[in-house]
Amino acid sequence: MSPSRPEPDPAPLPDRPACGPGPVDTARVSAPTQTVLGPEDAATNHGPMTETTSTPTPTHRGRTALVTGANKGIGLEIARGLGALGFTVGVGARDADRGATAVATLEADGLDVFLVPLDVADDASVAAAADLLERRGGGLDVLVNNAGITGSMPQEPTVVHLDTLRTVLETNVFGVIRTTNAMLPMLRRSTAARIVNVSSGVGSLARQSAAATDGAAGPVAAAYSPSKTYLNAVMLQYVRELAGTGILVNAACPGYVATDLNGFAGHRTTEQGAATPIRLATLPDDGPTGGFFEDAGVVPW
Ligand SMILES: NC(=O)c1ccc[n+]([C@@H]2O[C@H](COP(=O)([O-])OP(=O)(O)OC[C@H]3O[C@@H](n4cnc5c(N)ncnc54)[C@H](OP(=O)(O)O)[C@@H]3O)[C@@H](O)[C@H]2O)c1
Repeated sequence: MSPSRPEPDPAPLPDRPACGPGPVDTARVSAPTQTVLGPEDAATNHGPMTETTSTPTPTHRGRTALVTGANKGIGLEIARGLGALGFTVGVGARDADRGATAVATLEADGLDVFLVPLDVADDASVAAAADLLERRGGGLDVLVNNAGITGSMPQEPTVVHLDTLRTVLETNVFGVIRTTNAMLPMLRRSTAARIVNVSSGVGSLARQSAAATDGAAGPVAAAYSPSKTYLNAVMLQYVRELAGTGILVNAACPGYVATDLNGFAGHRTTEQGAATPIRLATLPDDGPTGGFFEDAGVVPW
């Protein structure tokens, strides 16, 4: 167990949108500075763009995905969506009992899933998870770095405890790097590897800059919001290093989703929140890399 293990139940951030396509955000995503997922991407991609009632056609049989923090919330729904598309899904969970419950739920839906005990803040746990995926999954094609925490309050920068910053970064940033690097040898062997980081629109510096006037970038939060900015910045370094490997690496904002993270104050369902991560996890080979996306399109950096 890592000495910097996060607090068990981080207090939810105040009841204001974390990210999500509001009128202001929607206008801003048309900024032409990043690759835009066009209709052709959606057409060649089997992940739902939005909540859907139709049963997706399994098209990814024989491929393995790992979703971190998949025992509940958006991660559970991403695991369900990828399973429905035919993936064998490793259900990452730091608590074995909570993970086993999630696995049983997904198996009851007829999905091919298995438990991957995984605390992204713990080196040994991540290494053991990689071993398990190699043995049980036969490798890895898709990694969804979904696990995340908000950290405890207060988070106003003038009063935030530095331990809160350390704890949040340990999971939201270092945890992603730790997990990604442990899984990369398997991803490099895949013929169509995808890495998806579940980020947040509150990590957008453009939205944070505008927040003083439009209030659309969530509460003042010196730990959580910058952790997602850092995550996006690190992602771009991965994109540069992995250029030419065929591994597509993208960030997703799920929108403001009702989960434990925000005391279920979000206005979107977990199915809606999972849609963009699933879409990015199933991009065609000529899909974008190094982008930051939400349902409405590109999120500005
Ligand atoms: N909900 C939103 O409105 C929203 C908006 C933007 C971005 N996001 C992002 O979406 C992702 C999922 O959040 P959520 O809303 O679904 O929250 P959630 O319901 O609280 O789920 C978070 C998941 O992460 C797991 N987790 C936390 N720390 C971990 C660690 N060290 N190792 C492994 N797993 C760990 C949790 O496990 P336990 O059950 O053991 O705690 C849980 O499974 C996060 O990255 C979050 O920042 C959410």
